Amino acid sequence: MPARVISGKQVAAEIRQALSGRVQALRARGVVPGLGVILVGDDPASHSYVKSKERACQELALHSVVRRMPATAGQHEVIAQVEAFNRDPAIHGILVQLPLPDHIDEQAVILAIRPEKDVDGFHPVNVGNLHIGSRCFIPCTPAGVMELIERSGFELKGTHAVVVGRSNIVGKPVAMLLLSRHATVTMCHSRTRDLPAVTRTADVLVAAVGKAELIKGDWIKPGAVVIDVGVNRLGDRLVGDVDFASASPVAGFITPVPGGVGPMTITMLIKNSIEAAERILG
Ligand code: GUN
Repeated sequence: MPARVISGKQVAAEIRQALSGRVQALRARGVVPGLGVILVGDDPASHSYVKSKERACQELALHSVVRRMPATAGQHEVIAQVEAFNRDPAIHGILVQLPLPDHIDEQAVILAIRPEKDVDGFHPVNVGNLHIGSRCFIPCTPAGVMELIERSGFELKGTHAVVVGRSNIVGKPVAMLLLSRHATVTMCHSRTRDLPAVTRTADVLVAAVGKAELIKGDWIKPGAVVIDVGVNRLGDRLVGDVDFASASPVAGFITPVPGGVGPMTITMLIKNSIEAAERILG
């Protein structure tokens, strides 16, 4: 039987509906959640992501401010903008679009964000709190991945989850979240020996490596939940890290690209921004 396709587009729309009620409740108390975005340079993918974030803020009636800075902006100028957002009471969440140009130390910029406004969950205080299971902002793509797994109805407890990719933005936080839901977690990366042998043991497989259609159908355990975080350009098509054509007859559940994890990421950013505003009211 072919896999059930988990539509991130549909799940995101459902969550946005619920979030709109929370925005209205905040407005009734005189607070409009505000997101401040910093975009440095001309990377077309980053510009397109930031546009989508602006559009999502508009749709949900959030206040949003985007500061676009030239690729030549110095680290101190970017940090000064972060600090301006830190001080601004109308801005509850701050996002610095990554990657930053090579001459800027990304960690130094992230460290300048007030952890209470770090809606990306990249500040070491939030990363540390995620690891010890304390309240924190959960990074948006990993949070979206977990929502999709939960909504598939799959019970994670005791299962084997395999994460392919060890980035700070996706792989590491996803592994930590799966662990907190009592999965047994294996993290794979570019040096893993015999990757297909490991992925074949996964009840849940999260692919976040950025390699077009790397994971084939015969790498997948029949009935597995397959979450594809990859967005890769292959000719004129956007494809994931999973070869959807060969994987979908084998998997139990699978997310498409596009229309899977992608729409969830921005929705989780909006959710974190609303939460940041709610926390101020207590
Ligand atoms: N670049 C790619 N993904 C992300 C993300 O989730 N947040 C930020 N700030 N930059 C990104």
